[in-house]
Amino acid sequence: MSDDKTKDLRDTAPDVTRHVLRDGHEIPQLGLGTYPMDDAEAEAIVPEAVWRGYRLIDTAVNYGNERGVGEGLRHCDIPREDLFLTSKIPGRDHGTGSVRPSLEGTLQRLGTDYLDLYLIHWPNPGTDRYVQTWRELMTARDEGLVRSIGVSNFLPEHLLRLERETGEMPVLNQVELHPQYQQETLRAFHEEHRILTQAWSPLGRKTDLLRSEWLAEIARKQGRTPAQVVLRWHVQSGIVPIPKSSSTERLAENIDVFEWELTNEQMERLRMMHTGISGSGFDPAVHEEM
Ligand SMILES: NC(=O)c1ccc[n+]([C@@H]2O[C@H](COP(=O)([O-])OP(=O)(O)OC[C@H]3O[C@@H](n4cnc5c(N)ncnc54)[C@H](OP(=O)(O)O)[C@@H]3O)[C@@H](O)[C@H]2O)c1
Repeated sequence: MSDDKTKDLRDTAPDVTRHVLRDGHEIPQLGLGTYPMDDAEAEAIVPEAVWRGYRLIDTAVNYGNERGVGEGLRHCDIPREDLFLTSKIPGRDHGTGSVRPSLEGTLQRLGTDYLDLYLIHWPNPGTDRYVQTWRELMTARDEGLVRSIGVSNFLPEHLLRLERETGEMPVLNQVELHPQYQQETLRAFHEEHRILTQAWSPLGRKTDLLRSEWLAEIARKQGRTPAQVVLRWHVQSGIVPIPKSSSTERLAENIDVFEWELTNEQMERLRMMHTGISGSGFDPAVHEEM
């Protein structure tokens, strides 16, 4: 892409506001999901996203695209401190002694010397090594290899056990969440413990969410798209969505949710879309992800 074109994109990119995590670090209110991009796709899409205003990039060892994300970021010519990089440790690397080499591999593939946020991808309660893993994350944070530490797909019972056995709760929990699967009980628990809620599948991938007639009606009234209404619902609810898109048009569409608002009535209508049915069907109480 020509320098003029990227400059035009940068000049018109929306300013993504930020939350402050319990540990004092800031996190953008919306980010880019990268699953299931491979290295080549991530390398091409990540700069397109950064030029359009994305600063938070979400990856994981198990996505197999950390190298591509790192290459893509090198094409952007943006200071490292302006970016917010998240990765996740897979189940096979849980336990004492295996976290550090796994994290070093992640840093090397991404081409950075620290992560902004490092998550335990799944609790894997059957394997039952998430408490030792959490202690290793605390050490990595204390050594400066990661700024903030959190988890993904943890239930309150897992979070309470971390606090009981290590004295520390995560600052963030990344979970499946969208208007048809609102996780209200978990969100109330998060609020009580000052854990920020981050949403994966925020657009309800694998569901019929974006084809809902209710959503279409709100979108028509707002002069927006159904996806924008859903992402604005997340932002207005204090949730950090990380929508994935490999289309430059949809990248621009998805980040344009900061300069307008849903009415209270529209928020209430969206609240009523909850069905309680997960799109993925994964239950963190039993799911084992290696
Ligand atoms: N922690 C975990 O266990 C976990 C699990 C799953 C995902 N994640 C993370 O969360 C991210 C997002 O979740 P997700 O990818 O499952 O679901 P998602 O972001 O809800 O949906 C992505 C799908 O929606 C399409 N899409 C994007 N923008 C759209 C728009 N404006 N209008 C219509 N369709 C649109 C995308 O297609 P196009 O690409 O063609 O636009 C893609 O098929 C992942 O990429 C990953 O980083 C984490």
